[in-house]
Amino acid sequence: MTSASLPRRPRLLVVDDNASLVDNLGEILEDAGYHVTGVGTCAAALRVAVGEGFDVALVDLRLPDGDGTALAPRLKEASPDGEVVLLTGFATLESAMAAVRAGACAYLVKPCATQELLVTVEQAMRQVRLHAEKHELARRAQTAEKLAAIGTMTAGLSHEIRNPLNAAALQLTVLERRIHKLPRDGQPTLLEPLALVRDEIRRLDHILEDFLQFARPREFVAHTVPVEAVLTKVLDLLQGQAERRDVEVIREFRPVPPVRGDEERLRQVVMNLALNAVEAIPAGGFLRVSSAVEAADAPDVVIQVDDDGPGIPPELRERIFEPFFTTKPAGSGLGLSIVHAIVTQHGGTIRAGESPEGGARFTLRLPRADAGP
Ligand SMILES: Nc1ncnc2c1ncn2[C@@H]1O[C@H](COP(=O)(O)OP(=O)(O)O)[C@@H](O)[C@H]1O
Ligand SMILES: [Mg+2]
Repeated sequence: MTSASLPRRPRLLVVDDNASLVDNLGEILEDAGYHVTGVGTCAAALRVAVGEGFDVALVDLRLPDGDGTALAPRLKEASPDGEVVLLTGFATLESAMAAVRAGACAYLVKPCATQELLVTVEQAMRQVRLHAEKHELARRAQTAEKLAAIGTMTAGLSHEIRNPLNAAALQLTVLERRIHKLPRDGQPTLLEPLALVRDEIRRLDHILEDFLQFARPREFVAHTVPVEAVLTKVLDLLQGQAERRDVEVIREFRPVPPVRGDEERLRQVVMNLALNAVEAIPAGGFLRVSSAVEAADAPDVVIQVDDDGPGIPPELRERIFEPFFTTKPAGSGLGLSIVHAIVTQHGGTIRAGESPEGGARFTLRLPRADAGP
């Protein structure tokens, strides 16, 4: 496990010009699992807030270069998801009101008891986590909206391109027929470029098909689909390509119950994942596809597609499912967004991670056919 996959420690900022108090609080809070930065002035606090940011700031009311109640809103402006707790010398109504006015979520009276300190910081952290969840929800809503807009545009454009493309393909057939009527020895030089053009048209047609699939995933009638048959068919189709690239294909199929869905679409899911793997693996590498259930009564069938290629950096593991995200010079960036759409349509989930060998691992979970409605 890499450190990037561990949850990061919450960052606290302690602002007080009493150095021994800062040390003291720092020690207690570090022991409780927080990462603490201590500073003695408003200016230093703002530098930290703008630079690395903070989750919770504990701010003294009286500071050498200013006042805690004036500093609090500026800190929140610099680090909008953070929360501020004010430290005061006296428990008075004025202190409480000053804290509320400054936008602080709580105040602590110095010297504060360890227990009270920890509870207050934990409460502030709860607020911080709520902010983060709210942002995540907003981000997802925005992505969904973007997808819908792109989908409509893509579908329109694909249809517009397909019509002239079909007309060109038709004329090509006419041309071919006419060439065949010419003297034999002149035919090859004419047929050769014609075949090239036809291949290119076919390639364009496939790309358009991808776009249309993505834009308008067709409704499906769910059937009972045998998982092993899907995996076998895809890997058989891929065998030739894998051999040419000197990639070993490993099958680790445990007996699993059938899933509910559309066999052809599920094949498309596995094909896209396997093709990506084959494209990523250097010669001599492997592609491993496995199926299993985690327990006899587990509701999902788990399919894993592993490789020993370069893997996917943790910060890209969500983005690769976005439409048009690609790191390949000639990629469409649609493969994984189609995968995501189909899997979601099946009531399943797909996640990108790291294989034990350090390459990519895609974990696909599909509801078994005999689970629920
Ligand atoms: N097995 C894999 N190993 C490494 N990177 C991968 C793998 N599968 C997908 N990716 C990354 O995800 C990106 C998006 O994949 P995809 O949506 O299929 O589009 P495309 O294949 O056209 O780039 C790829 O460009 C690549 O960066
Ligand atoms: Mg792809």
